[in-house]
Amino acid sequence: DQTSTTNDKVHGFAESVRSSGKNFVVVYGSQTGTAEGFANALSKEGSQRFGLKTAVVDLSEVDVSFLRNLPEDIFVIFVMATYGEGEPTDNAIAFHQSVIELAESAFHDKPLQAFRYACFGLGNRAYEQFNATMRGMDKALQNLGAKRVGEAGEGDDGGSIEDDFMTWKESMWTDVSLALSLHETEMVYQPLFIVEELASSNNTSLLVEGKITAQSTNLIPIVESRELFNSRHRSCLHMEFDIDGTGMTYETGDHLAIWPVNSRLESDRFVSVFGLKNKLDICINITAIDPTTSRVPFPCPTTYEALVCSYMEICAPVSRQLILSLAPFAPDDDSRAAAIAVGNSRQAFNTRFTNNYYNIAQALQSLTPLPWDNVPFSLLLESIPKLQPRYYSISSSSLVQPKQLSVTCVVESVITSDGAAVFKGLNTNYLLWLTSKIRPASINGIDLLEYPITKIRNNTDGNGTGPIYVPAYVRHSKFRLPKTTKRPIIMVGPGTGVAPFRAFIQERDAQAKAGLPVGRTILFYGCRTPDEDFLYRHEWMEMTAHLGDNFTLVTAFSREGKEKTYVQHRLLENADIIGDLIVNEKANIYVCGDATHMAREVGSTFAQIIAAKRRVRLEEGKYALKAMKSRGAYQEDIW
Ligand code: 2AM
Repeated sequence: DQTSTTNDKVHGFAESVRSSGKNFVVVYGSQTGTAEGFANALSKEGSQRFGLKTAVVDLSEVDVSFLRNLPEDIFVIFVMATYGEGEPTDNAIAFHQSVIELAESAFHDKPLQAFRYACFGLGNRAYEQFNATMRGMDKALQNLGAKRVGEAGEGDDGGSIEDDFMTWKESMWTDVSLALSLHETEMVYQPLFIVEELASSNNTSLLVEGKITAQSTNLIPIVESRELFNSRHRSCLHMEFDIDGTGMTYETGDHLAIWPVNSRLESDRFVSVFGLKNKLDICINITAIDPTTSRVPFPCPTTYEALVCSYMEICAPVSRQLILSLAPFAPDDDSRAAAIAVGNSRQAFNTRFTNNYYNIAQALQSLTPLPWDNVPFSLLLESIPKLQPRYYSISSSSLVQPKQLSVTCVVESVITSDGAAVFKGLNTNYLLWLTSKIRPASINGIDLLEYPITKIRNNTDGNGTGPIYVPAYVRHSKFRLPKTTKRPIIMVGPGTGVAPFRAFIQERDAQAKAGLPVGRTILFYGCRTPDEDFLYRHEWMEMTAHLGDNFTLVTAFSREGKEKTYVQHRLLENADIIGDLIVNEKANIYVCGDATHMAREVGSTFAQIIAAKRRVRLEEGKYALKAMKSRGAYQEDIW
């Protein structure tokens, strides 16, 4: 019974926080790790700056009874992100709902009167429901009698969320130290992990081994990888993977998660900046000092090399937090002063680091030529996020090729003002390098990055010419074709957003061949010019030949004429047909690609088209679109 185990877990957790003498708990609702990172930073600062006994807790591990039974001397900070259209993150759904429900049922009862908290919400001001999760929780908690200390912080992902966080944090500490009568102490670093060095190891398989034991990950061979286009600083890959015999299955519309690897260039830089060069092959064991509140996020024993190359997100843009937390361990006074100065100045930080896309090692290198070899490795483990898998919309149909799946991805780089190449896309550059092992592949005008993984081939054939493997798993999605094949579909997918629609169209084609009645199938596709980056051009022509009038491709080339033409402009031009298909033929709509601009603009265009068709106000068009979303007739796969 799932509920009883969840309850046991929740109560077990609340109990362990209480019995371990914690007095300061930071709980987070996080989807991509930003809120979790902020929560870790707050916990660390609380313990090091004010001597608090802190714990960081995933919201899925607590429930309302935890708050109700909390002794008065425990203070809680909520760090919660708002996801999608105002929803809580997956790990916060249950908790969020239970607090809102309690507030609705409690009326004049104030069961949380003894409870004090602070809060910071993460969201994006471009969305209507900005920061809805934290705002709703904050209100509910106050209705329940709880007292918030200080301002409710709000971070805008569309601006600089870290700057918002840093500003809120300072005033929060002032208010909280007043409320709790805290005294600032001399900052002392208290590690969360013990790093124990065992012996040298030449076990390079550690580089990928842990990934394979990760949930449902398999090593899958690349059966084909080719470039769909290769233009200045951009290249697009079509890759086919064999999943036969792995136990992996997929359905049209699912995602493939691939575990990335850091490049040789950046791993070497990191290793030399932190003085780890002579230690790479040393086998290490890592244990949490307090296992009730922190877990070791890596498979152990491991090596320094495996952690740096395959488990730590060392290429992420450097944050002000990270610079400031490493500053006490600077190699000399001058570099310490420089690190603190740049970490405390939003402007200096942006001009020197953010605008150059610097990662942590590049940032420290630019401050001083000395290695930062006094930084405890445990501190790096605590403050550098764990490398996450990258997700790709699968571009093949499981009906057409159930044992082999494909992905379509763009590899990009930019050249900064100082002439340096910045490789955007950690994993895509790795995939490009793997492709180059099969056939010539490159980014126009820039040298390929090299990668440290040597065991990419299965050696069964003895000469190392066998297929190349990547650690990957399928993430199932809700992005699905309509159950009835007759229903018309309208797909909007500019750029690599076209990936799942290639799969959809393949599937509709196979269904038609099998004699099923297939409805109108319309694809709105956008790219720069017909000659530069038009994906799968010949395949669309083939589909037109097969499906006849049932398939329509509408293209929007953005860099052909003087004015930009985007998919949403083409939608408007075809408003009559589109409106008719939606309103009278119950067509499903699918949008895939960029979330911040494209999907929003496309969404409001559809609302406009529906309103015009029905001769109602725009508000009602928007409402109709929302209704379509909630019944699955309007689906998005956006990032
Ligand atoms: P651009 O780069 O010329 O501005 C795939 O990336 C295509 O999507 C490109 O043609 C790109 O045009 C276009 N695109 C960029 N911003 C968009 C937006 N807000 N809405 C729709 N398409 C957009």
